[in-house]
Amino acid sequence: MRVAIVGGTGPFGTALARRLAGGAHPVVIGSRDAGRAASAAAEVGADGATNADAVAGADLVVLATKAEAALPTARDLRAAIGETPVLCVASELRFASAGVLPSEDAASLAERVQAELDGPVLAGLHSLAAATLSAEAPDEDAFVCGDDAEAKALALELAALLVAGRALDAGPLASARALEGLTAVIVNLNKRYRGHAGIRVTGLP
Ligand SMILES: NC(=O)c1ccc[n+]([C@@H]2O[C@H](COP(=O)([O-])OP(=O)(O)OC[C@H]3O[C@@H](n4cnc5c(N)ncnc54)[C@H](OP(=O)(O)O)[C@@H]3O)[C@@H](O)[C@H]2O)c1
Repeated sequence: MRVAIVGGTGPFGTALARRLAGGAHPVVIGSRDAGRAASAAAEVGADGATNADAVAGADLVVLATKAEAALPTARDLRAAIGETPVLCVASELRFASAGVLPSEDAASLAERVQAELDGPVLAGLHSLAAATLSAEAPDEDAFVCGDDAEAKALALELAALLVAGRALDAGPLASARALEGLTAVIVNLNKRYRGHAGIRVTGLP
């Protein structure tokens, strides 16, 4: 599968590209700026292109812009992405003196991204930290949710390449409300215990 990472010049996108580069699945880092994409891609041994060029010919698009940019970016790329499945990894967080808070919006960001696109949207990989993703496969599970079974299978195939644990089907796209909210929990744990929390699910066959 050819993977395009929109907003792939950030820590998460470059960590993901580093893990995939040189493997069975060609990966292209996308950016608003072709030069920025090229230098990030050169660092990790991937291809680089503008976001619009990166998504052309991709089998799976990973939407990895900063969270605030996910919706407008999806809107801008609607025609270029067409029916290609999009995996949204973003979580909207609010920073308060009490700690990190989840979004106040009742719908997940991924559900709102779905409303902007013609193809299926998945959500996942929220609990993987860029810092641990770029090295060896971290000892944790990865979650993916979505309403389209075929698209979800592709995203789960990608997720399985990234972790030493399991790539788990977390149900319909509405589960993104919980997965995105979980990011606030993870960031609070990281701050409180000074680490990089990951998640392992127990009790599943
Ligand atoms: N960091 C993590 O550990 C982690 C873990 C799990 C999930 N995530 C999610 O993954 C996503 C990326 O995380 P990150 O830490 O790599 O984010 P980031 O560095 O803040 O942003 C990633 C990229 O977004 C693009 N961008 C910034 N502003 C934009 C705008 N106004 N319009 C379009 N693109 C814009 C930039 O690419 P160009 O300037 O090159 O276009 C930037 O390199 C986030 O949504 C985050 O919630 C992050």
